[in-house]
Amino acid sequence: MSIRNKLILLILVLLTAISAVTGILFLHSEWSSISANSQRKNLQILLALAEVCKETHGSPKNSPAYTYFQTFLKTPEIIGVSCTDSSGRVFISDRYYRPFSSPSPFRLPLFFKTFSPPVTGVWETQQDNGVEILKASLSAVSNKGRQVTAHVDFSLQLINQEMDSSLRQSSAGFFIILSLAFAIGCIGTLIITRVIAGPMQTMAEAARMIGSGHLDHRIPVTSRDEMGMLAAEFNEMANRLKELDDMKSDFISSITHDLRSPVTGIELCSDLIKELAEKREYTRIPEQLFSINEHSQRLNRFIDSLLEVSKIESGKLELDIKTINLEELADRAVRSFRPYAAQKNLTIELIVGQEIPETRGDPDRLYQVLSNIIGNAVKFTNAGSVCVFIEAAPGWQQVRVRDTGVGIPEYEIKNLFSKFYRINSGRRGHPASRQGTGLGLFISKFIMEQHCGRIELESSPGKGSVFTVFLPAL
Ligand SMILES: Nc1ncnc2c1ncn2[C@@H]1O[C@H](COP(=O)(O)OP(=O)(O)OP(=O)(O)O)[C@@H](O)[C@H]1O
Ligand SMILES: [Mg+2]
Repeated sequence: MSIRNKLILLILVLLTAISAVTGILFLHSEWSSISANSQRKNLQILLALAEVCKETHGSPKNSPAYTYFQTFLKTPEIIGVSCTDSSGRVFISDRYYRPFSSPSPFRLPLFFKTFSPPVTGVWETQQDNGVEILKASLSAVSNKGRQVTAHVDFSLQLINQEMDSSLRQSSAGFFIILSLAFAIGCIGTLIITRVIAGPMQTMAEAARMIGSGHLDHRIPVTSRDEMGMLAAEFNEMANRLKELDDMKSDFISSITHDLRSPVTGIELCSDLIKELAEKREYTRIPEQLFSINEHSQRLNRFIDSLLEVSKIESGKLELDIKTINLEELADRAVRSFRPYAAQKNLTIELIVGQEIPETRGDPDRLYQVLSNIIGNAVKFTNAGSVCVFIEAAPGWQQVRVRDTGVGIPEYEIKNLFSKFYRINSGRRGHPASRQGTGLGLFISKFIMEQHCGRIELESSPGKGSVFTVFLPAL
């Protein structure tokens, strides 16, 4: 069952329950007030009759009280009225006086009807030839100082009929209003469920579209309520998914490219070796073997970087902290790049300003960071120099690598330490960019953070860059 139908069902059940409870409460309170009115009216009749009995006792038959006595019989519910004296003799009655019999309980037309007789007088019920009679009597002292008793017989059937018809009249209006309210509630339910379930359906449709690969699908944000917020969040999630998908595509295309070029190199060199061997030109073979070795090393570096990223991401990259000498590590890194720098006609020098005390760190990992930063400086510099300064400041030791290379535009700096990020790595980019994987700075940043250190960068395009590695001193 859809959420909309469930909501409709739930609200309808609630509406029905509320209507039923309201109806029962209304009928109960209405019946109580009708029944109280009826009792009050019957009591007034009994009190009035008691007054008449007092007046008529011992008075001549033509006294006005006798005329008044007749008026009681005009009330339809009254079956009979009489007055008796202290000896039980009937001195005035409209008909034959029936003595009291054993009382029988009331038979009430509605289950919630209750009867509480008025406190004044004696009230009992009696069956007479199948007719239910409510007998009421009240004693009083007559004008002549004698005790008289007034008796009224009411037809219970007529009393109940009158009460029922009053109840029917007053409840008719109420139930019309209740039905109208119920109908309005039903219409409201349909509107509310449409308002709530409509956006949900749109959301479900959008989720289905995204799930089936249409990552450009978005939900129009038409309100500022929770649904609007949900739609905005959904769109944000879709944007992120799209970004990740684009990154994945870029990653696959760049990784295939990065893997393909050394593999193709190895293949070409080995084909050439085969040809040379067939032609017995053995002297040219070592040159090809060097090339194969270079390509394999590049391939290995790439695979190592990928493995390192995977270690970083799974939290498995651990440091082997020892006492180290930063100057020694930097010197080793600079020396390893001398041949490369010489090949590009660049000067590369290490400048140590003062004596650098020993500190602690993982020597292999720190060497990896320095190699990457010095390697980058040589790789992205076509003319000029690369200078590596080692300095010690209170609390810190730092290695500053300054080059006169291509430089880095301001807007690229924030992305530079992200995975696989290379500036203009496409065909129009710096040719050196195409040789790297874009993982070096990502790994370096992580290693320095693990050492509680950091890497800072200043650069101006066309003029060169300065990368500074900060390592906490002992
Ligand atoms: N000194 C620099 N001058 C100019 N651009 C630089 C410099 N250092 C880094 N970059 C830019 O930052 C990018 C990211 O550098 P990073 O070291 O992460 O990757 P890479 O050198 O391309 O590849 P890898 O280090 O993984 O072999 C480089 O591709 C380059 O575009
Ligand atoms: Mg690099």
